Amino acid sequence: MELQGQVALVTGGGQGIGAETARQLAAQGAKIVVADWNEETAAQCVEELRGAGGEAVATKADVSKQGEAERIVELAVREFGRLDILINNAGITRDSSLLKMEPHQWDQVIAVNLSGVYYCAQAAARQMREQQYGRIVSASSISAFGNFGQTNYAATKAGVVGMTKSMAIELAHYGITVNAIAPGFIQTAMTSAIPNEMREATVAAIPVGRAGDPNDIARVYVFLSLPESSFITGQLFVIDGGRTLGR
Ligand SMILES: NC(=O)c1ccc[n+]([C@@H]2O[C@H](COP(=O)([O-])OP(=O)(O)OC[C@H]3O[C@@H](n4cnc5c(N)ncnc54)[C@H](O)[C@@H]3O)[C@@H](O)[C@H]2O)c1
Repeated sequence: MELQGQVALVTGGGQGIGAETARQLAAQGAKIVVADWNEETAAQCVEELRGAGGEAVATKADVSKQGEAERIVELAVREFGRLDILINNAGITRDSSLLKMEPHQWDQVIAVNLSGVYYCAQAAARQMREQQYGRIVSASSISAFGNFGQTNYAATKAGVVGMTKSMAIELAHYGITVNAIAPGFIQTAMTSAIPNEMREATVAAIPVGRAGDPNDIARVYVFLSLPESSFITGQLFVIDGGRTLGR
């Protein structure tokens, strides 16, 4: 129980990678706030965490709104007294080739994946500065290196890397580390819409010979959230089964 007494906020924690991360943080003793714009899945996740003996609260929240980001940080502090860990996991795709992309597809993805990370990180960092301690870990993606049909998504995931490095420099002397993870192809609702043929080709291009699952990512979120990970900051961890090797 390496996170006993600590408090973690997981955005987009209702399902997929976020829900698995919430489970694994709770298994290490952390109290969890699950914030998701899907109220139902957030509540289900919290029910499961409580069923396993954990302390957790669910809240419906849209991280693309600054006021909502501030509110969920306040909720963590009100419920559990502090905030040690922010997992900036909420994210969306609105895929389209550049030539067909509509401004709303661009705007929505920027609002959630990029502005959402900024709003939540800023609100959390203000609390963590008071505590002189914190861990912020955000979701980038290997799409940050470029992917067909994802000009908008890639821009946000590359943006998260720059933001992470800048925040890491600014926040290090408050005892706050800031890192990002770049998952490859992970089996979740986000990737379930991909046609079978494309999925098979994608998995065939992964050197370890399989798609990732949420557990592959959650374990790295937990590792970076540990107090002992205090000498790691401003880094991007690629977790892709080797897919981007040799590119
Ligand atoms: N699945 C993959 O292959 C993959 C690869 C690279 C990066 N990622 C990133 O990992 C993160 C999690 O992905 P996933 O596959 O678990 O996706 P998912 O779609 O299964 O889960 C995303 C969660 O975020 C929530 N969410 C979306 N917008 C929100 C908002 N504005 N406010 C609050 N909650 C919001 C959704 O309701 C959902 O519960 C995302 O940031 C995604 O971009 C995923």
